[in-house]
Amino acid sequence: MAKTITVSAFLTTILPLVYSSGIPIVVSPGLNFSIDPNITPNLTPCTTITSTNAPTIPCFTKLQVASYLENFNSTLAEVCSPTQLFSQCLLATVTAVPGLNCTSKINTTTMNGITSASNSTTCVPFDCATLNSRACPAPTASTNMTIPQAQGYYAVYSLYSVNQFLSGWATALNRASSEPAILSVLNNTTTPTPTGVLVSLITRYGLNPNADAKLVQLAQVQSVKPDPQIQPQPGKDNAALSLWRGVLVDKLQKMSFSAAGNFTSFVGLVGDGDFSVKGLAGANQLIASLSRSHRGP
Ligand SMILES: *[C@@H]1O[C@H](CO)[C@@H](O)[C@H](O)[C@H]1NC(C)=O
Ligand SMILES: *[C@@H]1O[C@H](CO)[C@@H](O)[C@H](O)[C@H]1NC(C)=O
Ligand SMILES: *[C@@H]1O[C@H](CO)[C@@H](O)[C@H](O)[C@H]1NC(C)=O
Ligand SMILES: *[C@@H]1O[C@H](CO)[C@@H](O)[C@H](O)[C@H]1NC(C)=O
Ligand SMILES: *[C@@H]1O[C@H](CO)[C@@H](O)[C@H](O)[C@H]1NC(C)=O
Ligand SMILES: *[C@@H]1O[C@H](CO)[C@@H](O)[C@H](O)[C@H]1NC(C)=O
Ligand SMILES: *[C@@H]1O[C@H](CO)[C@@H](O)[C@H](O)[C@H]1NC(C)=O
Ligand SMILES: *[C@@H]1O[C@H](CO)[C@@H](O)[C@H](O)[C@H]1NC(C)=O
Ligand SMILES: *[C@@H]1O[C@H](CO)[C@@H](O)[C@H](O)[C@H]1NC(C)=O
Repeated sequence: MAKTITVSAFLTTILPLVYSSGIPIVVSPGLNFSIDPNITPNLTPCTTITSTNAPTIPCFTKLQVASYLENFNSTLAEVCSPTQLFSQCLLATVTAVPGLNCTSKINTTTMNGITSASNSTTCVPFDCATLNSRACPAPTASTNMTIPQAQGYYAVYSLYSVNQFLSGWATALNRASSEPAILSVLNNTTTPTPTGVLVSLITRYGLNPNADAKLVQLAQVQSVKPDPQIQPQPGKDNAALSLWRGVLVDKLQKMSFSAAGNFTSFVGLVGDGDFSVKGLAGANQLIASLSRSHRGP
């Protein structure tokens, strides 16, 4: 069924069908959620997003964004290419374009006296897997969205927010000014591993308890393979510390690939709405926090 429906029609067409064709969605007690537009859903604050009316966890819950994502996951095979990361496909589906800055060219060819025209479109592919990606857009806020539009907004916001947060940590930990903080963790660790050191740093210096706790979980599940016994060796001189910065950035990049490429990891991170908030710490705030070193474990 879905194979004949264009991607841009997915939101308005597939999702209500999915909802009404028996995939259970959990309706939170006390919330008036209905996909029937004739039943007032009392969701106006959540479907009208402005610069002051930011995404919030209560709206994430009311809009049942976790169910929306689960439904999206269950239709992946029909709407996405097997070579696409789920996050690329989700962005393409929600935005109804295959990437950023798309331009189309009309190519006319003449063969045997017959002129034919074809459209070719080039886009910068969406990429929320690479740290500091310029191709992981923030969703466009708008007012009076439909419920599926608002759910799509939250889904894309979560991708964006995770990429921003991981990138902020990577940028901050890669600063020379963070070396005393790294050293204070190394000083207190007998067999440091990338995961262990990163987890300690996030725990000691993080500024967003909920999002940080999710990051710690991701760091741990992403290291199902045994962490390398430390490369570089746990020296405490400047060269070793500089190498450690690279090790931590590398670990965060792997976590970012996992978040944008593995739906289970992504839902683990964003499924409680912890990334559907504004004001998560960015690089500058984390740099400042990491510069206040000598904290306890
Ligand atoms: C849900 O709707 C019922 C009946 O319209 C109303 O009494 C109740 O207060 C509503 N609940 C919420 C959370 O809006
Ligand atoms: C235009 O069409 C011809 C014939 O189909 C093809 O060989 C050529 O690569 C096309 N050019 C562009 C820019 O798409
Ligand atoms: C190219 O795409 C545009 C927009 O989708 C459409 O209006 C136009 O008819 C297409 N042209 C050709 C030759 O396919
Ligand atoms: C898209 O185009 C804008 C304006 O030209 C540019 O600033 C931006 O960097 C482009 N984005 C990407 C990912 O290339
Ligand atoms: C949203 O729609 C309602 C009813 O159609 C309208 O009264 C209101 O002005 C709209 N709000 C915005 C911000 O567009
Ligand atoms: C870590 O230990 C080294 C020597 O073992 C010491 O010079 C340094 O001050 C300690 N740094 C911190 C942040 O505890
Ligand atoms: C780590 O720090 C704690 C508390 O500051 C201290 O009791 C402990 O001995 C330290 N461990 C190492 C290996 O330095
Ligand atoms: C996503 O879909 C796949 C395939 O249908 C399923 O195996 C997997 O459990 C789903 N993941 C989550 C987190 O629901
Ligand atoms: C996806 O991540 C989960 C943990 O979040 C892990 O158990 C699973 O093996 C991963 N899947 C793949 C294909 O890497």
